Amino acid sequence: MKKVTSIKEMQKIIKDFQREGRSIGLIPTMGYLHEGHLTLAKKARLENDIVVMSVFVNPLQFGEEEDLATYPRDLERDMELAAEVKVDYLFHPTAEEMYPQMQEITMNVGARTERLCGASRPGHFDGVVVVVSKLFNIIQPERAYFGKKDAQQFAVIDLLVKNFNFPIELVAVDTVRESDGLAKSSRNVHLTAGERKEATVLFASLQAAEAIITEGEKNPSRIIDVMKTMLNEKTSGEIDYVEILSYPELQPIEEVGGVIIIALAVKFSKARLIDNIIITA
Ligand code: PAJ
Repeated sequence: MKKVTSIKEMQKIIKDFQREGRSIGLIPTMGYLHEGHLTLAKKARLENDIVVMSVFVNPLQFGEEEDLATYPRDLERDMELAAEVKVDYLFHPTAEEMYPQMQEITMNVGARTERLCGASRPGHFDGVVVVVSKLFNIIQPERAYFGKKDAQQFAVIDLLVKNFNFPIELVAVDTVRESDGLAKSSRNVHLTAGERKEATVLFASLQAAEAIITEGEKNPSRIIDVMKTMLNEKTSGEIDYVEILSYPELQPIEEVGGVIIIALAVKFSKARLIDNIIITA
């Protein structure tokens, strides 16, 4: 595996592969890799000639009060893990390389961001679509791999690709979980031992919601109430949101039906965790 930090060098490598007609798969990440990221990379390995993983903690998608400074980083370990799953190129630009000046032309995501993380993290998805567009332009992948753990991000990038005609196939990969159900996340290292134990209730509450729906409950607010009670009783964390919406449009629904997302965010002392399930009801 080769590490590349220069955009120019990456573009030259890509051009050569394109001339040879080789397909490129891209996995954009912010590093501190875990089994979730590696699952995306393994899928990319199966479906493409060349696999590029980017590791870049994108300052543009962090709000002022957020965890940019403390976001976990370990490039050495990331390189070992990426090499193990046979990534060909690890693209790791500096912030100065990606943003030599302040981003002068900005993007503003309207649709699909009024709720969930779009509401609690103003500007977050604007920063995500800028960096993802830049990565798409630099790497020009045939396929790009994203996790359903960040289902709203997937819904937004799906629109980005459609609205800006990126000739890229998006591949959505199921959420990878710890054995007790907690969704794998780079931010889990910031949980205290007590919070880590409590955090199992996040997925448990999603499963409870699904069970209630299977039993016939159709009223979103009653389901949300049950989830909030569970989360409040079993964690010291503060609920940011619990919502049930249509997917991928992310619009409120009066009655459960069709493809829906049940999504939550909980703030612990040093980590804000998100999780969701998407079901057809
Ligand atoms: P990051 O949080 O590092 O996640 C990189 C990719 O891994 C995303 O597509 C995310 O959905 C996926 N992922 C994370 N945890 C997962 C899990 N437990 N199971 C399956 N997939 C998982 O998302 C970002 O970075 C950034 O916003 C990025 C797209 C790189 C733009 O900066």
